[in-house]
Amino acid sequence: MSLLASTVNDLRRSNVGPANDKHSATVHPEARHNRTSGPVIYKDVRASLPHPDLTSHPPSTLPTMRSPWFLAAVASLVVAEDGLAGWLRYAPIPSAECYHKRLPSAIVTLNSTVGSPVHTAGKELAQGIEGIFGKNLKLVATSDKAGSEPTVTVGTVAAFIDKNSGAKFPDLIEDGFHLNNERGALYGTFHYLSLLARGNASDFTLTSNPDAPIRWTNEWNNMADGGTHGSVERGYGGKSIFFWDGKIRDDLTRAGQYARLLASLGINAAVVNNVNANASTLTPANMDGLARIADVFRPYGVQLGLSLNFASPQVLGELDTFDPLDAKVVKWWHGITDELYKRIPDMAGYLVKANSEGQPGPMTYNRTLADGANLFARALKPHGGIILFRAFVYDHRTLNQTLDWKADRANAAVNYFDHLDGQFEPNVAIQIKHGPIDFQVREPVSPLFAHLVKTPSVVELQVSQEYFGQQAHLVYIAPMWKEVLDFDLRVDGKPSVVSDIVSGRRFGRKLGGYAGVSNVGTNTTWLGSHLAMSNLYAFGRLAWNPKQTSEGMLKEWIQLTFGHDQKVIDVITKMSMQSWPAYENYSGNLGLQTLTDLLLGHFGPNPGTSDGNPWGCWTRADEDSIGMDRTVWNGTGFAGQYPAEVAARYERIETTPDNLLLWFHHVPYTHRLKSGKTVIQHFYDAHYDGSAVAQTFVPQWQSLKGHIDDERYEHMLFRLKFQAGHSLVWRDSINQFYFNKSSIPDEAGRVGNHPYRIEAEDMELDGYQSYRVSPFETASKFHCVVTSSNSTQGTASTTLSKIETGTYDLAVNYYDMALGNSTWEAYLDDKLVGRWHGDFEYHVGRASSPYIDGQTATRITFKGVSIRKGSKLKLVGKPDGKEPAPIDYVSILPEGIAD
Ligand code: GCU
Repeated sequence: MSLLASTVNDLRRSNVGPANDKHSATVHPEARHNRTSGPVIYKDVRASLPHPDLTSHPPSTLPTMRSPWFLAAVASLVVAEDGLAGWLRYAPIPSAECYHKRLPSAIVTLNSTVGSPVHTAGKELAQGIEGIFGKNLKLVATSDKAGSEPTVTVGTVAAFIDKNSGAKFPDLIEDGFHLNNERGALYGTFHYLSLLARGNASDFTLTSNPDAPIRWTNEWNNMADGGTHGSVERGYGGKSIFFWDGKIRDDLTRAGQYARLLASLGINAAVVNNVNANASTLTPANMDGLARIADVFRPYGVQLGLSLNFASPQVLGELDTFDPLDAKVVKWWHGITDELYKRIPDMAGYLVKANSEGQPGPMTYNRTLADGANLFARALKPHGGIILFRAFVYDHRTLNQTLDWKADRANAAVNYFDHLDGQFEPNVAIQIKHGPIDFQVREPVSPLFAHLVKTPSVVELQVSQEYFGQQAHLVYIAPMWKEVLDFDLRVDGKPSVVSDIVSGRRFGRKLGGYAGVSNVGTNTTWLGSHLAMSNLYAFGRLAWNPKQTSEGMLKEWIQLTFGHDQKVIDVITKMSMQSWPAYENYSGNLGLQTLTDLLLGHFGPNPGTSDGNPWGCWTRADEDSIGMDRTVWNGTGFAGQYPAEVAARYERIETTPDNLLLWFHHVPYTHRLKSGKTVIQHFYDAHYDGSAVAQTFVPQWQSLKGHIDDERYEHMLFRLKFQAGHSLVWRDSINQFYFNKSSIPDEAGRVGNHPYRIEAEDMELDGYQSYRVSPFETASKFHCVVTSSNSTQGTASTTLSKIETGTYDLAVNYYDMALGNSTWEAYLDDKLVGRWHGDFEYHVGRASSPYIDGQTATRITFKGVSIRKGSKLKLVGKPDGKEPAPIDYVSILPEGIAD
């Protein structure tokens, strides 16, 4: 339990029923599951409290924009913000002062030990109420210290009963949320503050229980032996907040701030190092450092978890083996685990990636994966720790696409784990990526969830947008996660939705839950983009309660992050809800996976890299047909890994949904979808549709100018403009690629036909030379221009003799390799139209790339440019470092057209 609220709750009585009627109080659906932990918020029954005069109070929901004082509040909100506070800004709500009389004057914290979650909760409450309402509350240890003043009390049920003998708890507790830990008090406080910050009295929640006990993040921070300067695998928000140069950072302020954000969502543990773990994490000095991280996490009730390198006994311990059944190895791991718990008595446990993508594991010694997992489970058991053992096990070296029609990476997890169900120690949970491959833009749910009946499972979701535009594209992923969590696997013909499986409900298991690969960094925005934070928020909220809607969570987050301006809420909601379908449309459709560059970076388009290598993300595209045949009757058999009802649906083309057609079936490009379109025409249309939606993000966002602070406005505007340009690169690359493969023209005549373009290589060049781009589809007409090796400047000029005098949008497609800071200038009749730099490494946090391709291709657009027939257009490029100021083409576009 936890937050005992008195007067503060009273201000909501108009919505929750009579003052002392606990039975009629709203019980949130979250409270229905019988769990052993979770906060409760209820009214202090002290009779002496003043009863508020509700009639004279401001409305419990926020007024609309038209209200004059609200505009004043908006003005005060548009102060520059850097994102560090995330959604915990505690910004003033409109007419905050009207609430003052009904707010308590003191906060009673029933555990005043500095660093205890209850103490943290008290401080947070004081900070929140001061921020939201502008009222200062004092913190006291007992209610008598508050005198006759109304108080709000924070503590555990036990502590409360101790101080108030005879105190009765509401029947609400019969729903089973007696809490004996302090974390609940903190969660309750955060939840309560979130409601206050949103001014949403009508949504008051009295009780709330987490859906599942495991709610962890996985941070893929590299703890290397040195020289990596805090890199984060698939991290797009700066350097590690935990590590630097193979050691734990001295200054862990950001780690503490992060724990605060996680605690506000109810996340109870964070694994701080990369799943591709480095054995040096376990040196005594680093274990001491890890204990310091645990110390800054602890006040927020966030426990520390660690990824392990399976070969550590050999690599670090200098044993001659890391065989999990070898007595020396067992002893070594027990010793290490004891050492860790000596330093971190509340450590959450371990996360292990084994026998996957080159990582060592038990199979190196012909031991089973259960042998591997149990080794750690037994070492952790005396300390109460758990191990999350990843199901992401596959051998990327042996799959042979050419020789074996039935080879399929998607089969791996079930093949490896199915027969092991029941062989794991009770403190093992198998952590399963939501789909069978790897966080692609669309995958079916992993069938392994249906196979582990006795063994707890955890669903792994990726907050970090590795295959989703890496935070340089707006993609709100919650709608996809919802599809996964709500999917009914029909185990034994009975309802078996994924969220009920991982919570433990479906198969009657105690453990289970959620792991979010989050990868925050030192950037003040945490994830590198303000809008990407909706994904972290939604992950935490879903882990607490998977029944929430994507849009509901999003709106909450927008209000907390950007304030109460309805226009801001509407616009960001619309853009975010459009974003995943748009991204899917302009990347990989019909279940083909993302079609990004699989061999490099996973960012831009490169469909050719899907096939012809052992990584197993195959599309099997040839000149006539495309798709993976995963049927039982003729393909890899993957469809048969699902329980019968689902397997039957995926086995037949007629019953497979279009959006997974090419995941399960190999069909001709001319195959007609349920929509009536052919596969190839769907590709063309989807890429035009998706990129057209991405173009609208820019004006949608621009409509918010002045409604949010300039700092966040400008930051996002840059990214959304980038996304608009890059979505066109995606559109043209994918369409060009499949047009080239299939030779089937676009019925609408768009693909390969770009009347507004002038190819740079066709212009008059001086200091620039033509360059053939690879892969071919990532340049218009397959070529761009680059500065010649000895040139300090290149120019590409042409006379615009074919256009009519008028106003146009002038777009330049170029490549920013983030290898240097090239400069480009565009001139019309020697008058500067614009100058820009190759500075994406700063603006979109993208890693550098030596290649001129779909990762580095982008566009800049100058709007509303007056152009005369016969004007001379000149582009000037100045190379820098290894970046040869590449230009692909220029488009002189009728305004509003994005070609
Ligand atoms: C993906 C990702 C890797 C990561 C791996 C994993 O393949 O690209 O960087 O290590 O997933 O989840 O283990």
